[in-house]
Amino acid sequence: MVSAVQGAAKAAVDSNLFYQSAVRRPLIDRAEGIYIWDRSGKRYIDGSSGAMVTNIGHGNPRVLEAMRKQMEQATFAYRLHFENEPAETLARQVAARLPQGLDRVFFVSGGSEAVESSVKLARQYAVVTGQQSRWKIISRYPSYHGATLGALALTGYAPMTKPFAPMMREMPKVPAPTCYLDRDNFDEQERGLRYAECLRGEIERQGPDSVLAFIMEPVGGASTGALVAPDSYYTRIREICDEFGILLILDEVMTGIGRTGRFLAAEHWNLRPDIVAMSKGFAAGYAPLGAMVADSRLVAPVLEAGGFVHGFTYAGNPLACAAGLAVLEEIGTQGLIANAEKMGWVLKARLESLKERYPFVGDVRGLGLLLAFELVSDRGTMTPLPKDLHAHARIVELAYQEGLIIYSRRTRSGIEGDHFMVCPPMIVTEQQIEEIMEILDRCLSAFAAEAGLDRG
Ligand SMILES: Cc1ncc(COP(=O)(O)O)c(C=O)c1O
Repeated sequence: MVSAVQGAAKAAVDSNLFYQSAVRRPLIDRAEGIYIWDRSGKRYIDGSSGAMVTNIGHGNPRVLEAMRKQMEQATFAYRLHFENEPAETLARQVAARLPQGLDRVFFVSGGSEAVESSVKLARQYAVVTGQQSRWKIISRYPSYHGATLGALALTGYAPMTKPFAPMMREMPKVPAPTCYLDRDNFDEQERGLRYAECLRGEIERQGPDSVLAFIMEPVGGASTGALVAPDSYYTRIREICDEFGILLILDEVMTGIGRTGRFLAAEHWNLRPDIVAMSKGFAAGYAPLGAMVADSRLVAPVLEAGGFVHGFTYAGNPLACAAGLAVLEEIGTQGLIANAEKMGWVLKARLESLKERYPFVGDVRGLGLLLAFELVSDRGTMTPLPKDLHAHARIVELAYQEGLIIYSRRTRSGIEGDHFMVCPPMIVTEQQIEEIMEILDRCLSAFAAEAGLDRG
């Protein structure tokens, strides 16, 4: 019933999204490693780690044991009444993996909460340091930062934001660095700079004294399909933020904790955020967990002024933190970040090879195991496939029938275009990648046949 209601709500926004959401799914029976079984015994490959969540795979016995132990001790203690050991240890371990100074950890239960916490801390920092005029947070278009109204105001994805526009104060947007679509005489690095300079333009348009922060996903998530900018973009973004005294918030809800082959995706460019939001792979689906991690330079004046005016009942939940701690340990002992990088290259090469067989595969992108491919009707112009083919939904459905779960969205601001995220858990092996690719190949072939597309 719940999923049917969610389906209906989305239908009002975009009939294309409705296609996916309204479909009733089988009941899950059990899950282990990269596989999930339904009640009929059918097996599925979790080729998107759920929604890029189950990074260490399902049913990890050491994580389950750590959770069981914690459950026997205490499953809940309100943070204003007690501190708890798993939260304290996890905070120390996370801080130890981040750049020096980025060591104030605020636990939450999901990505939207992590983003909300980040923007509220940024604002409170401005208020207590005499910068009350700063409140605007510039974000990118397309982007996704969460479902709550605050996070949605930062989100650049029309089908999700439009119905709620009157209820929220939409924040200024700059274009996401979709260099792969540009047809000009610039090289990649020049294009990167050009997109970064859009931030300067927007700050000046808004009035520098009114701008509080810039938020971005270092590697795009579902809204762009694993968009990676040229190196020049990241360096220049940091410079521009510093020039105008603007905070840089990185939304690493999807990219964080190893998925891109680094603990934070920001490490690929040595990019230092002032605040970072994390969730998804943090407790990897074993418990709802997220965190905002902020530079102590921001937190100190807020605490001096009386404390952070913000909080959630489940913040710092001992069971969720025990799960997070065990997941972190597993990532370390199994070398999963290195595996994400290595298997990421293997999978990316295999996805690239689809281009040879299918002229309608227009782009393959991403880092580590955050990978996506986009379909087009013309590679030269990157014109999307006709909307009414609903490729983003149809191919996901064909794969689901074949026992492969992948994740898709409309590419161009949610309005047209089709991309598919292939993001298996970080424990994936080369052999399992072959299994994924065999199914994907069959599905693209079937889709090409039914849509009347050229198969090369
Ligand atoms: C980049 C990014 N930020 C924030 C969120 C919101 O996270 P949640 O759905 O856990 O609230 C998501 C979820 O997909 C995301 O991908």
